[in-house]
Order: sequence, then C-alpha cells, then structure tokens
Amino acid sequence: MIVGVPREIKTAENRVALVPAGAESLRGDGHTVLVEQGAGLGSGFPDDAYRAVGGTIGPDAKDVWAKADLILKVKEPVESEWPRIRKGQVLFTYFHFAAAEALTKAIIASGCVAIAYETVQLTSGELPLLTPMSEVAGRMAVQEGAKYLEKVFGGSGILLGGVPGVLPAEVLVIGGGVVGTNAAKMAAGLGAHVTLLDVSLDRLRYLSDVLPPNVDLLYPNRHNILEQLPKADVVIGAVLLPGAKAPHLVKRPDLKLMKPGSVIVDVAVDQGGCIETIKPTTHDQPTYVVDGIIHYGVANMPGGVPRTSTLALTNATFPYAKRLARLGWKQACKADASLFLGLNVIEGQVVYPGVAEAFNLPLVDPKTLVERAAGGAGAPAAASRWAAVAGAADRGVGGVRRVQCRGRDAWADGAEAVEDGARAGDPGRLRSPGAAALGARGQVWTHPAQHSRDDRFGLSRRAAGGGHQSGHRAGRREPRDADCAAGVPASGGSGAGGGGRAAGEWAREGGVREYGQLGVVVVDPPRRA
Ligand SMILES: NC(=O)c1ccc[n+]([C@@H]2O[C@H](COP(=O)([O-])OP(=O)(O)OC[C@H]3O[C@@H](n4cnc5c(N)ncnc54)[C@H](O)[C@@H]3O)[C@@H](O)[C@H]2O)c1
Repeated sequence: MIVGVPREIKTAENRVALVPAGAESLRGDGHTVLVEQGAGLGSGFPDDAYRAVGGTIGPDAKDVWAKADLILKVKEPVESEWPRIRKGQVLFTYFHFAAAEALTKAIIASGCVAIAYETVQLTSGELPLLTPMSEVAGRMAVQEGAKYLEKVFGGSGILLGGVPGVLPAEVLVIGGGVVGTNAAKMAAGLGAHVTLLDVSLDRLRYLSDVLPPNVDLLYPNRHNILEQLPKADVVIGAVLLPGAKAPHLVKRPDLKLMKPGSVIVDVAVDQGGCIETIKPTTHDQPTYVVDGIIHYGVANMPGGVPRTSTLALTNATFPYAKRLARLGWKQACKADASLFLGLNVIEGQVVYPGVAEAFNLPLVDPKTLVERAAGGAGAPAAASRWAAVAGAADRGVGGVRRVQCRGRDAWADGAEAVEDGARAGDPGRLRSPGAAALGARGQVWTHPAQHSRDDRFGLSRRAAGGGHQSGHRAGRREPRDADCAAGVPASGGSGAGGGGRAAGEWAREGGVREYGQLGVVVVDPPRRA
C-alpha cells in the first residue's frame, strides 16, 4: 500500500501525521511511504530523516494525494485539498465534521473513507486520540501562566514556585479532567500551591489519591469559587460539558476580586470558555487584559509546541495507522471496535450518528458497509439477531444491560430500543417478557460513541470494577463490567438462567455486535427498501 503524508497547510499548523520512526515501521511492513517535501519540518523532522528510513519524498501535495491509498494527516482537509481526494482513498485524521457542513459535504462527494481521530474510542469511553492533546494543553497552561506572571509580560511579578522564605504562587484549576489534572500536576511540580475544582465527586476522590499534597481539592460551588479568586495568581479553565458550551463559572464582575496582574488561561476556550471574559486568541497575539487581569485564550495550544504535540499525537495514532495499512480499512475496522467507531463517512455515506444528526443526513450502518465491502458472508438476518437479543434477555444472560437499535433515525436504548426493534423487526419476539425486563431494568448505558465525555472517568472506573451507575430494581445486583468479561449473571442469581455466559458469547452466536466489556450490544434492524 502507498501511505501518503501531505504537509499540513492549515494556518499555523506545524504538526505532521507520521514521524520517521513510523515511516520506518511502515517500510518494514512492505509499504511505500510517500511524504510531501517539507511535511515534517515544522516538527523538526527534515526530509532526509524520512529518506534515511526508506521513505520517498514527493515533490508536492498533488503527487502525494494522487498516489496514496491511505492518507495520514493531522487537521481536516482544507478547501484547496478537497479536489485532490480520490474515491476509495482512506483518510485518517481529525475531521470534527459536526462543526463543518461544507467539509462534510465535500468528503461525502469525494467517495473516500473518512476515519476521524476524534471519534476513535476505547471501551472504557476514553478518546485515545484526543487525550494526548489535552495532556499537552494542560501542561502548557501552567507554562503560559508562569510566563505571563512575569513583570515583563505585564504580570504581577510572582515566581510560580516561590523560594525558601517566600510563599509560592496560588494556582486555581477549574475542571479536573485530562487538561486540569495535567495542569495541577505541572503546577504542583513547580512548587505552586494548587486548588483544583471538579464537579464530579468520584473524580475528586480519585484525584485525592494520585495528586501530590500541595494540591487541594474543592467542590466548584459559587461560594467556593468566589472565595478562591482573591487568592489566585493563575486561574486555569479546564471544564468540559460534552456537546455543550462550557458554563461561565467566573463572571465578569468576579474579576474585581482578583489581584491585578494575575493571569487567566482558559483552555476550555474552544468550547466557549468557563471564564465569561475569555475570547479565542492566537499564538501570534495570545493575551489581552480585562480589568487588570491577563487573559490567555489560545484555542489550539498544542500548535505552539509542534514537536512535542506531533510525537504525542503520533504515539497514539500510529498503532491504528499501521493496522489500517496492514489490513486495509475494512478488515482493520472489523478487527478493532475502537477504530470502527472512527468511521464517519464511507464512500459517500454518513455512518456516524452525530454527523448525520448535525446536518440531517441519512445515516447508514457502517457494519453493513464494512461487511459488504469486505466481501464477507454478510450479517445474519436481522430477525434472527433480534431473536438472539430477546432470547438472551429471556434467559437473563449475564452482562446484557442495554440494547441499541441502530440504522433508523436515531439510537435508542432500553425499552425504547426494544419497541423500536419491534416496529422494525421481529414484533413477536420483542414483546417477550425478557425483552420487557431488559427495558424495565432502567438501562443507563450509552454507546461508546455517544455517551458523554463526562462519563469517561465513570466508565473507566466501572470497567475497573470500582462503582456503578444504578438504574436497576431493588434486590438485583447491578452487573459489573468485570462481570461481563467474566460471565457473571446479570442479576446475581434471581432470574439469571443463562449459566453466567458473557454478553459477548451469545452476541457472537447471535451475530450481533458488542463492544468489549461494557455489555453494550448493537443490533441492526432490517434495512428499509
Ligand atoms: N485550547 C486548547 O488548545 C485545548 C486543547 C485540548 C483541550 N481543550 C479543551 O479543554 C477542555 C477540557 O478538556 P479535557 O480533555 O480535560 O476534558 P475532560 O472531559 O477530560 O475534563 C473535563 C472536566 O470538567 C469537569 N467539569 C464539568 N463541569 C464542571 C463544573 N461545573 N465545574 C468544575 N468541573 C466541571 C468534568 O467533571 C471533567 O472532569 C475541553 O473544552 C477541551 O476541548 C482545549
């Protein structure tokens, strides 16, 4: 296969999608690696570094796009690249389709296969190709905060770590996810005193175990925020409400409480920011001042450290890229449920619910396309798959906590899915007592591609057997994710006649698709003519 790496041409983008070590590995697998001249320069990788490991340097973008079967990129293709995309070509990059209608339409029209970094998702709920950039931004936020505290940059002239005999700076971190945790670790490591606020008590409990003693953890109610602001030298915004604008937790009048020359770094600016006075800035002009407080609002912070960001990103993307090159997209996505979730558009058809919903486009089940395109035997008849689900529910088979009905207008779960399925597929079966019980148990699970990023940590913890969202009836033990893997009955004995088989086991028998250890089952109702 020819793997192509075009130079990123989006403004101020200096990352590259493949480093020489990756090129060497792909060459070792027998692929041709075609890198556009100068593609790696912004990240410190000259053309010779690729040549030295057997890579070919293409003279220009036209050449790379024309020849490559698989294109590895960092940012979504910009308009001038759209005409270069070929039918059947596979693109593996960040797309963020739901925010870009013109791009979505261009990709649909091109007939390519678009696999988006941002929707590749592990069974734990983690988004492994977004996490590295949040890590970079969180750590960098502290660097930037420390820099703008310096007098020469207009700051209050405080050294973050203090010195013996002089107190260190106070850093307030709002949000304790990937960005916030990395910021807190970094600030604490530099000797600052850190206060971190997160709305999730579970998250705070976890952080209390892993963060150093110079980090205090606090619940982010209004009273606590107002009490912290007068002390803070640096405030770092790191809140995320999945799929929504960040809430304004620090309002304009609150700035009056802060010391002049203090610094706000609102990393969440890309979602509107959690500080009311933040607005997006660029690396060229990163800061501005409101009421004596320095505001830093760069929306693509990792772009400021492209060398680190490229290495962090490619560490995460490369294993998927290698698999795509080795197996081809169909087999790679069939074999890897996380990568499968990265499929957004396949040869003109939208296969990712969020994208279809955003632009009111028809949604096609990727499985049918992958199966068909892969030339496999095809999915079993939908009716028999529904029968498998209903039957499994009847038997109380372990680990089945949610059934989703896919391929119609939307995703559904629990009782709704059962009813939807009944309309679409196999009414007799789906009115079975087991199917009803499935809904009655109060299903709480969401599909990995759709559950909120909020849930990520909860899901991770549950996967580790640490706690459960409860939606079940009294007297029934909520199954653990570990149980699903181990095949422990869902209802702890009562009515569980399935002999403790794992969800995956019957799912495979029934030909339905399941995702890892979460006990999430996706059933494809019959396609309409
Ligand atoms: N500017 C940049 O260059 C850049 C780079 C990477 C990420 N980001 C952005 O940073 C933000 C955080 O990303 P992340 O990966 O850490 O997300 P995350 O999901 O890992 O963490 C978000 C955290 O916010 C917490 N939270 C939600 N509501 C809260 C509230 N009211 N008060 C306090 N905490 C609350 C959640 O419990 C969660 O722990 C996102 O908006 C992301 O897009 C920006």
